[in-house]
Amino acid sequence: MEITGLIESLYSRHGLTHETILQFRREIYDNYKANPRPMPWRQTDDPYRILVSEVMLQQTRVERVAGKYLQFIAAFPDFTALGRAPFPEVLALWQGLGYNRRALSLHKTARLVIDTFDGKLPPSPAALQTLPGIGAYTAAAIAAFAFHQPVVLIETNIRSVYIHFFFMDRQDVPDREIFPFIRATLDADDVRTWYYALMDYGARLKQQFTNPSRRSAHYARQAPFHGSDRQVRGKILKMLLEKPFSSSTEIAELTGVDMGRLCKILTQLVEENLVIRKRKGYAIAEN
Ligand code: ADE
Repeated sequence: MEITGLIESLYSRHGLTHETILQFRREIYDNYKANPRPMPWRQTDDPYRILVSEVMLQQTRVERVAGKYLQFIAAFPDFTALGRAPFPEVLALWQGLGYNRRALSLHKTARLVIDTFDGKLPPSPAALQTLPGIGAYTAAAIAAFAFHQPVVLIETNIRSVYIHFFFMDRQDVPDREIFPFIRATLDADDVRTWYYALMDYGARLKQQFTNPSRRSAHYARQAPFHGSDRQVRGKILKMLLEKPFSSSTEIAELTGVDMGRLCKILTQLVEENLVIRKRKGYAIAEN
């Protein structure tokens, strides 16, 4: 095969020319240079710090994460410090971020890293995904931001950018159709900056246009918080941090939740190892 034919066939899965790729990168980088969003975790490639930031960012907005991240890193600067801490201390610091199970997973991961990975986070996404709370996205994010690997990374803002530019008239775009575009346009010379620039571009798109991610096949709005089990779980954990060994009656009074619903939620919290039941009272698990 002559060389031009070879090059064209490499482009064929996504139909992009070298010229288009360069133009697209220029657009993304120009926006980033004009208004980069400074974030504390973008100034480090320490694997522990990248892990903490990415777990916090999984379901929580950047503005809310920024302050908590700095407090968390100050209190638990590395895997050893986090692994040694009793779980209630970790959970106390997590308050305000929500989705408290993430705190438990992070704490478990710290201990596993110390006990089975010689204190160091493994660089491969496959090994990372064996750790609690680390799914496909978080594993890829750690590979990119801590280990500078040219992996394919997709989250809501990145997804928005590709749908906006490459799937203009499409609805229900599945991620598997977006992956070849991410791979083809990836700037392997500076993976971190490239993905930060994409995330920031996507965040801006959402402010300017109807969120392009609504045209993703995977689009799902976060369920309403008010009155949800998630809200009740948060209230229970907060109360147990302040008053360990509260009884279910005391918890029902303070949360205003009926006993039937409360017992179901408490049972779940115990099954998840967030809470223990002792002498008719409930407390945050010491782990
Ligand atoms: N920078 C690094 N990771 C990020 C994320 N998940 N969201 C926004 N900005 C980030």
